[in-house]
Amino acid sequence: MTLGWTLFITIFTVANILACFWLLWWTRKRRGEPVSQTETTGHVWDGDLTEYNKPLPKWWLNLFYITIVFSLAYLVLYPGLGGFAGTLGWSSSAQHDEDARIAEARLEPLFARFRPMDLVELARDPEALRIGANVFAANCTTCHGSDGRGARGFPNLMDDSWQWGGDPDAVLTTILEGRTAAMPGWGQLLGEQGVTEVTVYVQRLSGQQVDPALAAAGRARFEAVCIACHGIDGKGNPALGAPDLTDGVWLHGGDFASISNAVRNGLNGHMPAHGPILGKDRSRLVAAWVLSHHPGILAEASRPADEAAPDGPGLSEPPTSRPAP
Ligand code: HEC
Ligand code: HEC
Repeated sequence: MTLGWTLFITIFTVANILACFWLLWWTRKRRGEPVSQTETTGHVWDGDLTEYNKPLPKWWLNLFYITIVFSLAYLVLYPGLGGFAGTLGWSSSAQHDEDARIAEARLEPLFARFRPMDLVELARDPEALRIGANVFAANCTTCHGSDGRGARGFPNLMDDSWQWGGDPDAVLTTILEGRTAAMPGWGQLLGEQGVTEVTVYVQRLSGQQVDPALAAAGRARFEAVCIACHGIDGKGNPALGAPDLTDGVWLHGGDFASISNAVRNGLNGHMPAHGPILGKDRSRLVAAWVLSHHPGILAEASRPADEAAPDGPGLSEPPTSRPAP
């Protein structure tokens, strides 16, 4: 805070307190004067209702003096006069840091137990899930809903359709680092007719009944423009966050108007990075909580590597410590 502000605030505050003090002292002085029993404020209501003009009772005035003494003491001990920090050195941020440190110290033994566990183990640990659910409730529900089922533009985390990949590592990376989808708008390139055709083709990809001629024209356009991200079969690419257009799950709506709007104007969904906000321990717990709703992923991830071999190095993690039976 600059010196100018400090002076302004200090002078203004002190002058106010002194003015209050003077006002009380002045009213008190008038107490000594003989007061005629019949002196009134001069106001008359409802024809004959008048008000005596008498000084305030003594106990009431004394309460005011106490508040003045309190405010002066407060301003000496605590920050309040501009840049003056107060003789106690108290500050709200130091108080918050201290509270956070105490809470952190209380949780540390718990977090220490969780650290050597992988996400699959965490997703099966009731204590970890309890904390993970709290982290979710406090940080994620504004966007993803209290049940994690999302809303338009905010993905449902409980279904099996994953834009950025559903294996444990991908989910944790999404939470720690955030994601930004980049789907350019194609209105300029395709023209209105082109947008209509490709939209109809996308509708067909997801199993909707459409005009076959339009869909055929759209297919050619899709293969020219869209497959770079959404794949030749439209099943998407988790590395780019390009969603599967065939599964009937829509982040931005699956009707003609919504799809054509996405194609014409593009989309830039943004999931904010939560690593800096939550830290790694809490991020892992909330990832585990999300994953705990997906038994299929957990089973897949905990399968020994050789069983997963036929599909190549798929979703499974490196060989788990568990020996094959
Ligand atoms: C550069 C990569 C890229 C290209 C090329 C691309 N898309 Fe996308 N598309 C994305 C991404 C990333 C998203 C996710 C956007 C988001 O989540 O905000 C997306 C989202 C969509 C959606 C919304 C899906 C939903 O669930 O609501 C539709 C529809 C779509 N794209 C259609 C197309 C069509 C049709 C084309 C070709 C004309 C196309 N895209 C070309 C990357 C691309
Ligand atoms: C400010 C809103 C917002 C908050 C808060 C938020 N998210 Fe998201 N999240 C999004 C959006 C938007 C997307 C989709 C991004 C895109 O379009 O690609 C997303 C995507 C995701 C995905 C990827 C889904 C998929 O299909 O691949 C996961 C997982 C996720 N969020 C988990 C979380 C968790 C856990 C939290 C709390 C720690 C959280 N999010 C907090 C907005 C938010």
